[in-house]
Amino acid sequence: MSKKLRVANIGMKFGMCHVEGALDCKDAEIAVICDSNEENLRFAGERYNIPEEKWTTDYMDIVNNNEIDVVTVAIPDQQHKQVSCDLLRSGKHVLCEKPLALTREDIEEIVKVANECGKKFMVGQICRFTPAFEKAKEIIEAGTLGELYFVESEYAHDYMLIQEPWRCDPKRHGVIGGGCHAIDLLRWLAGDPQEVFAYGTHKLLPHVTYDDATIAIMKFDENLAGKVFVSTGCKRDYTMRTVIYGTKGTLICDNTSPSMTLFTTDEEGITQDPQTIEVEVNNHNAVKEFAVFADAILNDKNVLTDALEGAKTVEVCLAIVESAKTGKIVKPDYTF
Ligand SMILES: NC(=O)c1ccc[n+]([C@@H]2O[C@H](COP(=O)([O-])OP(=O)(O)OC[C@H]3O[C@@H](n4cnc5c(N)ncnc54)[C@H](O)[C@@H]3O)[C@@H](O)[C@H]2O)c1
Repeated sequence: MSKKLRVANIGMKFGMCHVEGALDCKDAEIAVICDSNEENLRFAGERYNIPEEKWTTDYMDIVNNNEIDVVTVAIPDQQHKQVSCDLLRSGKHVLCEKPLALTREDIEEIVKVANECGKKFMVGQICRFTPAFEKAKEIIEAGTLGELYFVESEYAHDYMLIQEPWRCDPKRHGVIGGGCHAIDLLRWLAGDPQEVFAYGTHKLLPHVTYDDATIAIMKFDENLAGKVFVSTGCKRDYTMRTVIYGTKGTLICDNTSPSMTLFTTDEEGITQDPQTIEVEVNNHNAVKEFAVFADAILNDKNVLTDALEGAKTVEVCLAIVESAKTGKIVKPDYTF
């Protein structure tokens, strides 16, 4: 590879972790950073020593710049579709934050445009790069737990002080905005749920009109059930506690804990003493996420968290929200 990937980063709040991902990548160089808010743009530019001539407040400067290869997008969810599609159509590879978008219409459009443009697209389902969850995937695939019969995860995060209007939009229900992490994780570990059923409650966040807690049960293929709990007003530290139950063992892990607990069985099926597995705590592993994306671009590999994966995760979230509203079982529609 003679030429480095020329990267543009849009959105300089959470999106600063994408700047760090690009700075860490030996095959990439930052060509432009963008934020419509000048103060946020200046803060990031100065923090990462990016010269002012590489700053812009208008993402269309990136769309119209043929020198840019890859763009990261970390702006409010409501804008993901427009900005990602503009970038894809202008020939850029795109890493867009989760959730892919907030409506069926928007996720369909992104999948369509990503397919048509033939550029790489990654949705930032960053939990797939969390060391504990990577290890969980490895343990499941090694067969250590036997056949899975029940999987549960949760997204419990106190949003009491997080009140920007775009986050309070009823379309940005907590199940979609944050809960998509836990739902994506279960899809990655156990496959696509075929049916979901949910209840919601609303006791903690007076500044939103949607439920701030939701519990959903789900039926996967092949004799496997699941559960997701989402609470965006909970009175505790952020957690994505996840428990995976198999016929030969059980694994308990989290995104914020330095150890995981593994139970296995002997030849007679008797449960042994638990083993503790130490893991690095790296809940936002944006460095690895960007490295994997750059590798997919440079070596023409498939992106595991592509537009379709992002769309399927949002589709399950939408099904859960609908079920909690209607009191009915909902079957997600994975045809995109
Ligand atoms: N993966 C994760 O765990 C994680 C964590 C936090 C946020 N996110 C996602 O990242 C995205 C951004 O979240 P945030 O917390 O940084 O939001 P934020 O509101 O704190 O910041 C958004 C930034 O984008 C800028 N912006 C808005 N519209 C823009 C536009 N059209 N062009 C350029 N800049 C624009 C704003 O000025 C602001 O600086 C959201 O999609 C969110 O869901 C993901």
